[in-house]
Amino acid sequence: MPFISLEGIDGAGKTTHLQWIADYLRAQGANVVVTREPGGTPLGESLRTLLLNESMHIDTEALLMFAARREHIAQVIAPALAQGSWVLSDRFTDASFAYQSGGRGIAEARLQVLEEWVQQGLQPDLTILFDVDVATAHQRVRTHSDPDRFEQEQLGFFERVRAMYLRRAAQYPARIQVVRTDQTIDAIRDELAAVLKPLSGN
Ligand SMILES: Nc1ncnc2c1ncn2[C@@H]1O[C@H](COP(=O)(O)OP(=O)(O)O)[C@@H](O)[C@H]1O
Ligand SMILES: [Mg+2]
Repeated sequence: MPFISLEGIDGAGKTTHLQWIADYLRAQGANVVVTREPGGTPLGESLRTLLLNESMHIDTEALLMFAARREHIAQVIAPALAQGSWVLSDRFTDASFAYQSGGRGIAEARLQVLEEWVQQGLQPDLTILFDVDVATAHQRVRTHSDPDRFEQEQLGFFERVRAMYLRRAAQYPARIQVVRTDQTIDAIRDELAAVLKPLSGN
């Protein structure tokens, strides 16, 4: 069954649309497992807490992201797909390329090695990239009372993250669908329904 990932910079609208997408797919009869990265397993959630709060070397950050992903695939994603469920994940590997390579500056070739090791060919069937300009996204998350280690980054960091996301969307046009989120929630839902329709076969 399809594996769908949601991507985009902090404040783009991933979490806002996650439950709606799950409900939309369930209304078509799908079993949907909703999950997130970093996280998705007890160990992965512990790693998430470290990743979002502890300062660390950029290589450590990248390695922990892929360590959490290895566990996530083994414990959640692969079993769910094998038993015929859909998987909907709030972030996956495009985020590692966008944040750890685009944002932090790690060579993409290094992440590609980890990607092959950890995923063994597994890729999302569809990735929805929620895209909005950095200033708008920043305005939206500015109200967060307790910003995490990534949310505290400067605008230039998010410009690089966004640019890498858009570069990957251009590189993988069959997989990555860009949905602009500088529009109303209802207008975005209409676009999401159009993007999901071919997958749900209705
Ligand atoms: N289309 C939109 N218009 C206005 N505000 C939005 C829109 N989409 C999301 N938001 C708001 O922006 C904030 C960040 O959205 P969220 O879904 O948490 O982003 P992400 O999960 O991508 O970081 C939330 O407060 C949400 O209510
Ligand atoms: Mg979110």
